[in-house]
Amino acid sequence: MFRQIAPRYDLMNHLLSLNIDRYWRRAAVKRLRITPGKPILDTCTGTGDLAIAIAKKAGDQCEVIGSDFCYAMLEIARDKRKPGDATRGIDFLEADSQSLPFDTDTFGCVTVAFGLRNVADTDQGLSEMTRVCSGGGQVMVLEFSRPTLPGLRGLYGFYFSHILPRVGQWFARNNKDAYSYLPESVGQFPDGQALADRMTAAGLIDVKYTPLTFGVATIYEGTKPATSKSFNAETNSSKDNNDV
Ligand SMILES: C[S@@+](CC[C@H](N)C(=O)[O-])C[C@H]1O[C@@H](n2cnc3c(N)ncnc32)[C@H](O)[C@@H]1O
Repeated sequence: MFRQIAPRYDLMNHLLSLNIDRYWRRAAVKRLRITPGKPILDTCTGTGDLAIAIAKKAGDQCEVIGSDFCYAMLEIARDKRKPGDATRGIDFLEADSQSLPFDTDTFGCVTVAFGLRNVADTDQGLSEMTRVCSGGGQVMVLEFSRPTLPGLRGLYGFYFSHILPRVGQWFARNNKDAYSYLPESVGQFPDGQALADRMTAAGLIDVKYTPLTFGVATIYEGTKPATSKSFNAETNSSKDNNDV
């Protein structure tokens, strides 16, 4: 499915989100805690927009790697690197997020944007992100969520279920399934506290989440304990009430 939609993925993303997806990724990057010298991994990187935004923020402070299991997506990501700026050094690697080819405790930050929902086993994806993150490092998930305001929730549901799949199919000119899959996958995926709890269960502490654009998307953040012994799954997840 992702191979099929890769050539038009960016266009569709910006069009169907009315370009708000760019702002969501910027908001995520702003919250990253970059540690100089500690590499950053963006999993399910797709066409690389989050990895590119991260590299621009990190500059020469650290290495940035984008991983994805879809070669066609990665090819587009690689073409976006520019020789003249910090994006030139991004490594885009083929890898399954359920079995990341990196050592435990490698990265200062591990991110995923609009990708965790697509990983077949969510808990395994979260567990792998946590494993490769170093102690004290940050795991961040940016994902669609369901708005809580009743009126907006209905409007959003209608747009997502009836308009978006039709516009998507028309513009992508091929794949009805890809754009019907989007509302279905968002509808079935945990959001808010439910996803924060899954991150806590994966071994993260201080998990919090910040709704964006009235809750249409949400940023989730957690920290890997400095040592696994300090991990306490009972206590540490909360909502950050500032919708930004
Ligand atoms: C909706 S795209 C998101 C791409 C990008 N992160 C963004 O913000 O636009 C989801 C990506 O997840 C990738 N993906 C899904 N399951 C995966 C897995 N198990 N391992 C690696 N990549 C996966 C797909 O190939 C696709 O590129």
